[in-house]
Amino acid sequence: MAARRLVEGVYEVGVQHFDRREFDELIPLPDGTSYNSYIVFGEEKTALIDTVDPSKTHVLLENLQSLNVKKIDYIVSNHAEQDHSGSIPMLLDVFEGAKVVTNEKAKGMLQDLLHLSDEVFLTIKEGEELKLGGRTLKFIMTPWVHWPETMSTFLVEDGILFSCDFFGAHLASSELFVRSPEKVYDAAKRYYAEIMMPFRVSIKKNLEKVKALDVKMIAPSHGPVYDDPKFIISAYEEWVSDEVKNQVVIAYVSMHGSTERIVEMLYDELVKEGIEVLPFNLSVSDIGEYAMALVDASALVVASPTVLGGLHPKVAYALSLTAMLRPKLKSVAIVGSFGWGGMMVRQAKELLKALRVEYVGELLIKGLPKDEDAGKIRELAKVIAGKTLDS
Ligand code: FEO
Repeated sequence: MAARRLVEGVYEVGVQHFDRREFDELIPLPDGTSYNSYIVFGEEKTALIDTVDPSKTHVLLENLQSLNVKKIDYIVSNHAEQDHSGSIPMLLDVFEGAKVVTNEKAKGMLQDLLHLSDEVFLTIKEGEELKLGGRTLKFIMTPWVHWPETMSTFLVEDGILFSCDFFGAHLASSELFVRSPEKVYDAAKRYYAEIMMPFRVSIKKNLEKVKALDVKMIAPSHGPVYDDPKFIISAYEEWVSDEVKNQVVIAYVSMHGSTERIVEMLYDELVKEGIEVLPFNLSVSDIGEYAMALVDASALVVASPTVLGGLHPKVAYALSLTAMLRPKLKSVAIVGSFGWGGMMVRQAKELLKALRVEYVGELLIKGLPKDEDAGKIRELAKVIAGKTLDS
């Protein structure tokens, strides 16, 4: 991995972590990820924007060496999470006298996480500028993407916005700029779904701030650089909008085939009603794809067998995650099979209580669906479809 030039005097010096397969011990990374770090050379001062995961500090140092960097005046920390801040202590050892530039809230978090001393910091506020000589860094507070302290740094003369996680994509790629837009779109949507979706309202406000700048390039700290910022700004506008699509997600598990048969019958009926149906067998599905489907869906159908009197644990896990992600779902239906009764519906509602959704139907079937159950499933599909088409 080598330093890569964005424009004269601005280079990406971070890491492509191709073989990382999980983030936060939770999020699947089918395409790896990157920790982008950017060096900006002014006529008088040099600034590094964000660092890399501490497991890869050596790569960042090699890249800086390849550019013959002897002095760094400022290390800008847009976000305190360790995949971007974790190398700061080692960089402060190598580049003595460098100041960590960040906002007051991030400073506190960096001190808690990395045990940095007070004197290494230069704290800045919304709209403040730092002159590098012929180049100016302007700090734009973009809180809650996805932590409270997050900010972006705008390189005024070049129109480059260093946005850290905001607009990011977990995608390791040899392409510095977006040249495979469909792949990047999917990776950015997956990233939005898993990290940003709970903060949709804050992100809307931050998007307006970004749109007010004369941005020519967006350089996030995960994934390729957007040299056409409209590409990712319009994708974000769609994802954070209040609009939902004519889509129903079915999250299900089946042990002996009864719940699967209910799902198949419901799927067919919903398709007949003109609904796009996205089923996820939670035993085999990538939970990231499930999260992506929730970005646009109007309705969720929860389908579970009854295990030891309640929801299947894999369904319970998916519902717990769904509640955390706070998608813009309008309605939920709960279906499933049972042998001798249980608490499944109550448990599902309890797990989803953080969501403001309308429960539009419940259908629990004893054993394998019988002929007379077909009508109930058809009826439920019509109700779900009606709500979906109305929303
Ligand atoms: Fe990429 Fe929130 O860290």
